[in-house]
Amino acid sequence: MEEFQPTHILHTAAMTAVEACEQDPALCQKLNVDVVKLLLETAEKNNIHLTFLSTDFVFDGKNGPYKEIDETNPCNAYGASKVAAEQIILASSAKAAILRTILVYGVIADKKRSNLVLWAKSKLGAHEAIKVVNDQWRMPTWVDDLADACILCIEKSATGIYHISSEKMYSVLEAVQEIADYWGYDKSLISPISAAEIGQSENRPQKTGFILDKAKKELGYRPTSFRDSLPLIDQQIKFYMK
Ligand SMILES: NC(=O)c1ccc[n+]([C@@H]2O[C@H](COP(=O)([O-])OP(=O)(O)OC[C@H]3O[C@@H](n4cnc5c(N)ncnc54)[C@H](OP(=O)(O)O)[C@@H]3O)[C@@H](O)[C@H]2O)c1
Repeated sequence: MEEFQPTHILHTAAMTAVEACEQDPALCQKLNVDVVKLLLETAEKNNIHLTFLSTDFVFDGKNGPYKEIDETNPCNAYGASKVAAEQIILASSAKAAILRTILVYGVIADKKRSNLVLWAKSKLGAHEAIKVVNDQWRMPTWVDDLADACILCIEKSATGIYHISSEKMYSVLEAVQEIADYWGYDKSLISPISAAEIGQSENRPQKTGFILDKAKKELGYRPTSFRDSLPLIDQQIKFYMK
């Protein structure tokens, strides 16, 4: 910080694996909460604006889609750590924004990483059968939209909480069927499975989704629909992942 003297920090790093956070709550606290405290101290001292990425997992998933002012009630340690970090940010005097986002997908240069779209596309493209949860609902977020939201937030030095996602609610199964439709894959390869069958009925929110009015009005955020993002991703894959 002393060397670069930034005006803005965009803090994306986190311990994000739900089961790992459950198994090692001390490390989860260190990475997801204590690091935020340190960044906030620097931000306060040097008048730096902080943007922090948070998650729909701050909610219990019983009443989605959610507004920014809705009460949080996480059902796992990962969500709880993000709530703790959010509370510290909101209580501090630093200029800071919290961008909550949902099920992020898109093209990644690092081939070791994946997400729902890249995973489903690669499995179905290889004619592999997949099981996909049919009783968890989300509004998936194209990573390019999230990047735009981060830039808007930084340009405006916005403060407070903003919800960033797409606008249409999909079950994870429906999202994967949309992927199969777009790329013309055999949908009979996709079979439904319940959250309970994969041990996620208690520790994942069932139905999240966000109401985006605040981000649209105050940041000028314009979400891309899940369907419309797929041809753009197709072009990006051809360009970046040859
Ligand atoms: N992906 C989603 O669907 C989603 C949804 C809601 C919110 N979010 C939030 O968005 C942010 C990014 O998520 P993601 O999906 O990109 O997570 P991810 O794939 O798990 O990546 C996490 C990143 O954090 C870095 N990191 C972790 N511990 C670190 C440490 N001790 N020091 C330095 N870097 C460290 C990792 O570095 P390495 O590359 O070195 O491992 C990695 O680049 C997180 O804050 C997450 O909570 C994501």
